[in-house]
Amino acid sequence: DGDLRELADSHGLDLGVAAAVDPLVEDRTYQQVVSGNYTSMTAENTMKWSLVQPERGEFDFEGPDALVDFADEHGMSMRGHTLMWHNQLPEWLEEGDWEEEELREVVQEHAEALLGRYQGRMESWDVINEPFEDDGPELRENLWLEVFGEDYIADALWTANAVDPEAKLYINEFNVEGGGDKSDALYELASDLVERDVPLHGIGFQSHFVHGQVPEDLVEQMERFTDLGLEVTISELDVRIPDPAGEEEIQAQGEEYRRVVEACLEVARCPGVTVWGVADHHSWVPEWFPGTTDALPFDEDYVPKPARSGMVDAL
Ligand code: XIL
Repeated sequence: DGDLRELADSHGLDLGVAAAVDPLVEDRTYQQVVSGNYTSMTAENTMKWSLVQPERGEFDFEGPDALVDFADEHGMSMRGHTLMWHNQLPEWLEEGDWEEEELREVVQEHAEALLGRYQGRMESWDVINEPFEDDGPELRENLWLEVFGEDYIADALWTANAVDPEAKLYINEFNVEGGGDKSDALYELASDLVERDVPLHGIGFQSHFVHGQVPEDLVEQMERFTDLGLEVTISELDVRIPDPAGEEEIQAQGEEYRRVVEACLEVARCPGVTVWGVADHHSWVPEWFPGTTDALPFDEDYVPKPARSGMVDAL
């Protein structure tokens, strides 16, 4: 059915997968699917604040080390995920009553510890994750906006750039892949940062799609951002299907995966496509979008699905 990894390599495409620590350490089949099909990895959870710094000043790098070492051993690149987000923050951080200066030190310390540890081994970092409200053009009212104001975005990019000057720095967002108000707001933000020479290198289109609703104009939507001189990557692709998923939907999903990879190949500055999970039984989809399922290229027995063939066909 085609060597997906080799095909991706031959096109210079980073084909990535979000990986979880436990199966990556314990499950041979999981390891083989990851290293046999993909050229790049993102940590699905283990580089998030609550896991890296569960208590103030107490860092845990066991999970992140395991992923980065696995990537090195298998000649894969890494996307770092993530620094400034509103979810999966440790309690001490979320519930703290922060003065601006003190929180600035906390961010600096965290960035030095995490980005500093892997400096030179990360292709990119999602420095800013989901900065806009779920459906809307307003900046999300997260801890960072409350304490620092809207320049937390530029400041964090500068901080990350100082710690890891080689990594490509990203803003990663969802519900922007098909245009609309939220996408326009992201475009305004990106334009402003570029104009101010802030070290922003790329935009991640998360691409958590609903079957039947993959945007037709993905290429145009990406190119509007690459025209600013930025990269656009597909950072968290999955395509969820109403449960129970029928054979027809699973087939049609293959075409959707093909179209997304083709879109990235068509855009000059799209470095790659990352799928959000290895196999259907690891996917966040059934838990977060109840009543939907089967969103990934491998099923719960690690059998490749039409979604995988779709990606092969695109290459
Ligand atoms: C998700 C993980 O997949 C889940 O395991 C976790 O419980 C919640 O977070 N956007 C992001 C990712 O940027 O970090 C999220 O990952 C999915 C949505």
